[in-house]
Amino acid sequence: MNQQPFTGQSVFITGAGVGIGFGLCRAFAAAGAVVALNDVEGALAQAAAEKIIGEWPGATVIPYAFDVADVDAVQNAINHFAQQHGRLDMAIANAGITQYGKFLEYTAADFDRVMGVNLRGSYFTAQAAARQMIERGTEDGRILLMSSVTGVRAFKSLGTYGVSKAGIIHMARVLALELGEYGITVNAICPGAVITERTVADDPDYAAKWGGVTPDGRAGEVEDIVAAALFLASPAARHITGQTIQVDGGWSLRSPIPEDHPD
Ligand SMILES: NC(=O)c1ccc[n+]([C@@H]2O[C@H](COP(=O)([O-])OP(=O)(O)OC[C@H]3O[C@@H](n4cnc5c(N)ncnc54)[C@H](O)[C@@H]3O)[C@@H](O)[C@H]2O)c1
Repeated sequence: MNQQPFTGQSVFITGAGVGIGFGLCRAFAAAGAVVALNDVEGALAQAAAEKIIGEWPGATVIPYAFDVADVDAVQNAINHFAQQHGRLDMAIANAGITQYGKFLEYTAADFDRVMGVNLRGSYFTAQAAARQMIERGTEDGRILLMSSVTGVRAFKSLGTYGVSKAGIIHMARVLALELGEYGITVNAICPGAVITERTVADDPDYAAKWGGVTPDGRAGEVEDIVAAALFLASPAARHITGQTIQVDGGWSLRSPIPEDHPD
């Protein structure tokens, strides 16, 4: 079996300085792909790219610093990356932000920021990537979107985030319909509670608490989300499009929340 199944391919991944996005970049670099690693924080993007190259000498990981809510910046970066490498095979619109707040108190500014990053950012990342794939005659292009179990189950104080993530599930369907004729598949992943730098900083007991309310007895790890992405990006998934995979250890089957979770 080819140990580097994505050799010769290129992938653009957003929101990847830490967390799930970083795990995706590392996995695709290890699998042989040329990787564009985006983060809104330039120093973080640079450090993350260097870390992966340090771990996988010979890997090509190029940092791109921009805010995915800035459509011009998204287009410029994706166009630049595709031009530099002569092709674009995959894009993963992973960047997303959470802004807790009760519905009755939620501000328009917070609403616009969450929608700007999560929905507009994902939409125009996918659009810029699809345009490049079509222009360059990419065969079997892949676009992955990062949703959340909050897009399929309602959470108090996470309404705006949930609405944005529900929108991403439908985005996968409508983009799949429009891009099928170009050989591009579009799918979404809904992570459940995943142990990352951010979630553990917010709650040091995150893993134990969420493991306690998840049918398989554990919180998710970045590797669990990465495994689903590698499958959806692989030739084995060529006939899967417009779909959403929930990677949550069965949590969304009943959706209990830990007792002291803040509303
Ligand atoms: N961690 C979880 O438990 C979980 C669960 C469900 C869904 N998700 C989704 O998975 C994705 C990744 O989550 P995570 O927890 O790894 O993320 P995270 O909060 O750890 O952030 C990852 C990176 O994204 C960057 N980023 C933030 N806003 C950006 C922007 N506007 N443009 C570019 N980069 C930006 C941050 O600087 C950070 O380095 C998100 O879309 C998130 O909504 C995460």
